[in-house]
Amino acid sequence: MGVALSMPEPTKVVNVASVPQRSPFRYPGGKTWLVPYARAWLRSRRDHVEELIEPFAGGAIIGLTAACEGLADRVTLVEIDPDIAAVWLTMLNGGGPWLAEKIAGFKLTRESVTEILSSHPGSTRDRAFATIIRNRVQRGGILAPGAGLLKKGENGKGIRSRWYPETLAKRIFNIVATRDRVNFVQGDGLESVARNAHRKRVAFFVDPPYTVAGKRLYKFSDIDHARLFGMLSRVAGDFLMTYDNTEEIRHLASDFQFETRAVAMKNTHHARMTELLIGRDLQWLNPRCFSQPVFPEFGPQTPPG
Ligand SMILES: C[S@@+](CC[C@H](N)C(=O)[O-])C[C@H]1O[C@@H](n2cnc3c(N)ncnc32)[C@H](O)[C@@H]1O
Repeated sequence: MGVALSMPEPTKVVNVASVPQRSPFRYPGGKTWLVPYARAWLRSRRDHVEELIEPFAGGAIIGLTAACEGLADRVTLVEIDPDIAAVWLTMLNGGGPWLAEKIAGFKLTRESVTEILSSHPGSTRDRAFATIIRNRVQRGGILAPGAGLLKKGENGKGIRSRWYPETLAKRIFNIVATRDRVNFVQGDGLESVARNAHRKRVAFFVDPPYTVAGKRLYKFSDIDHARLFGMLSRVAGDFLMTYDNTEEIRHLASDFQFETRAVAMKNTHHARMTELLIGRDLQWLNPRCFSQPVFPEFGPQTPPG
């Protein structure tokens, strides 16, 4: 593996304001804080990455960053939720300018939102627009059923507090500009891992849905985590996974002899916490940025041999 790169200080949380926000989604569990780590990971590789695959794309901040910053020749995003898929399909298949204009021209009120959210969009484009609206007005950006609408919102601005139409339109146009290098697949992320397992110059960035304490953030969240770990243990290429730092996941990582590092981040409520980075080889992480020598009870971090 390549050289370790300079990284944020151990106890410092990545300042997300310094990271370009390229996704039109607000995403529960969005990975903006992880961008500096993903950059270091992709740059540390001896061979340039031919394709970065993000099998659980969501708002796909890492895939978009890689495409915009030339960290991989090509990027493939995979997502199973048809509402989220509609947004990617629209942006990447010629509907981007339509979507951007529709957003820029929308007068967002509680009534206009209710009308959009109770409609049954017939086309992929209309579905994409409704998804963007829903993502902006539901609490925490949660698209799973049952999430309520923003009430007070930020600064008492209520339902409009996360509505930045010009910014969204700009991000969509920037995504349209990456169309020749970004591919979107609506489907099962596990299948995409299996299909590409034999390819050496592929890298997988894996951020699966993971439910802690019964909190349901995504419409599709039933993943066989042990199966995913098993599949990744057999890929010829490289991977980087990120998970909530739980005992279950630390055990799984240890079972497959993957390396783990806890990194500091702030959650959506600005509470400091750690998240796990998991890989076959995390040498690229400068030791100074480990938040602590993690989980000695599971033995050495680096598997022997
Ligand atoms: C933790 S989120 C990803 C967040 C993303 N990294 C970001 O920066 O926005 C997980 C995503 O996986 C999607 N998902 C759930 N099951 C899936 C499956 N079997 N295949 C593909 N995507 C799936 C969910 O709909 C959700 O959007």
